[in-house]
Amino acid sequence: MGRVHLEALRRVENVDVVEVVGTSLEKAKAAGAGYNVLNVTGDLKDVIHDPSIDAVHITTPNASHFMIAKAALEAGKHVLCEKPLAMSVAQALELTNLVAAKKLRGGLCHNLRYYPMVQQIRRMREAGELGEILVVQGTYSQDWMLFESDWNWRVDPKVSGPSRVMADIGSHFFDMAEYLSGLKVTDVCSDLQIFHPTRKQPVVNSSGEGGESFTRKLGVAGETVDTQVVTEDFGATLFRMGKARGTMTASQVSAGRKNRLVMEIYGTKGGVSWCQERPEELWLGHRNAPNQILLKDPSLLHEQAQGFADYPGGHAEGYPDTFKQLFRRFYASIADPSLTPDYPQMADGLRQMKILDAELVSHKSRAWVSVPA
Ligand SMILES: NC(=O)c1ccc[n+]([C@@H]2O[C@H](COP(=O)([O-])OP(=O)(O)OC[C@H]3O[C@@H](n4cnc5c(N)ncnc54)[C@H](O)[C@@H]3O)[C@@H](O)[C@H]2O)c1
Repeated sequence: MGRVHLEALRRVENVDVVEVVGTSLEKAKAAGAGYNVLNVTGDLKDVIHDPSIDAVHITTPNASHFMIAKAALEAGKHVLCEKPLAMSVAQALELTNLVAAKKLRGGLCHNLRYYPMVQQIRRMREAGELGEILVVQGTYSQDWMLFESDWNWRVDPKVSGPSRVMADIGSHFFDMAEYLSGLKVTDVCSDLQIFHPTRKQPVVNSSGEGGESFTRKLGVAGETVDTQVVTEDFGATLFRMGKARGTMTASQVSAGRKNRLVMEIYGTKGGVSWCQERPEELWLGHRNAPNQILLKDPSLLHEQAQGFADYPGGHAEGYPDTFKQLFRRFYASIADPSLTPDYPQMADGLRQMKILDAELVSHKSRAWVSVPA
């Protein structure tokens, strides 16, 4: 994600990347290479104490988000943190309070909100075109952890947290579900499953070091050790949003599915369905008329969704563009303190931690659990 952020920042107006931090100087140099970064360092303190730096992006494994965000905020820097915000509700609450107390910007990288067609769904719902929302359903399915030999720091709860799939990709689903429907998840009933009770952990690849995410699919040989797995490969959640009802699954073991985030929303007037693997298409469902496929073209989008589409129809805008759109709005809000933030906040990260917490309690107790407001 560090390089994804760097690349997107290069496409945002009026932003310089001052310094890249790695776990060593060599790793920082490698990460920053080719991006015209002014400095690289192996020591986070260099960034924290540099008065020329306004904002810090956090793209490290989950366990370090809290410590880095806290240090940056206490030093008076704005923070844009990768999801999930923290390892627990308590940590997320502390960061959210710190951002408010310091009057700083605290953004969270739920970037998937910023596909143009996702914005179109939001504007359709706001304009009343879906009617009252009845049903929200979907999935976030991947296959990169299907084999017992698949390994990543996300398997280690000390680095990733008490949940794997629901925290990693289920959080993107619920962020989008609430953002698009305008409703809050009030209750959940979850079932989590570990298909591989042990996995083959590469001996040289623990604690988030080496072998970055997704690289093992390209085939990495070497010595491994059988390691017990305590976090889920798959999860399913039934949920309520007040009167509306929903279902979702999240999976890292669904063969052939790469990043299949599907969001379906059905209201009293119509339905929509969107899939991240075909992001330029939006299915529009009608009860008494033929269904439609809307292909992204700024001229066909709601006016407020047009600002998220920088290219003409037929020229695809995808995953890297979602970061650009988020970062652009984050830096605009730093340049102009009077702007109301138009991007996911740390408070949204806290929200996701509360949903996640309720899912874990529900699974353990085999019962419905309420999500605190
Ligand atoms: N928004 C999204 O779409 C999205 C997608 C993937 C991952 N993520 C999030 O991004 C974060 C990173 O995930 P990833 O898949 O890029 O992991 P990764 O393992 O590919 O990369 C993490 C990098 O951080 C480095 N690192 C570890 N600790 C560090 C520290 N204290 N200081 C500096 N560098 C450190 C590691 O050496 C590694 O190079 C996670 O929180 C993950 O949830 C978000």
